[in-house]
Amino acid sequence: MSSQAARLVVLVSGSGTNLQALLDAAADESYGARIVAVGADRDGIEGLARAERAGLPTFVERLADHPGRDAWDRAVAARIAEHRPDLVVCAGFMKILGAPTLSAFPVLNTHPALLPAFPGAHGVRDALSYGVRITGCTVMLADAGVDTGPIVAQKAVPVLEGDDEATLHERIKTVERSLLVDTVGRMAREGWTVTGRIFRLGRPGR
Ligand code: GRF
Repeated sequence: MSSQAARLVVLVSGSGTNLQALLDAAADESYGARIVAVGADRDGIEGLARAERAGLPTFVERLADHPGRDAWDRAVAARIAEHRPDLVVCAGFMKILGAPTLSAFPVLNTHPALLPAFPGAHGVRDALSYGVRITGCTVMLADAGVDTGPIVAQKAVPVLEGDDEATLHERIKTVERSLLVDTVGRMAREGWTVTGRIFRLGRPGR
């Protein structure tokens, strides 16, 4: 079973609690996926420390170390390719991936709002200041835009009286972690297809 488990490369920029949830889930062989490497766009983050504690190979490609975005895009794609992933998972990765990665691998992303509302780096803050009563999280396939790819799964989270950005984000992240774990596992075990914007679980022709 483990030799057939889908190979995941997970990309992080921060605390890595979504990565940790995937690591914990993948400890069970029946999950159907295993993390083969963790990449980041910055050093010194807890996400990388979690990967190192789990004994996983890690890599860091900082935009500032490259002459420009195109060179960074190519470097990131090359580092990912070394690990031959079936799926790349952006788990709190705060950069948009370029064509070299997007054309080579399916890429899953997670966002702390109900897309297409409140895309971008401040989805929680933007939802809160707009005054919505329900927000949530979205797992989607990445494309060249900012949080514009086909939607894979969503869950709603209520905004409570007295919430600030931190309390609301923590409540969303609890839901987000289980949605991401559930979604990645199902994609690995069941396969998936995309027609236009429409994502479906299941292998084609079944
Ligand atoms: C998640 O809410 C993700 O959607 C957002 O940043 C958070 C990452 O959390 N972009 P963590 O690093 O997985 O703890």
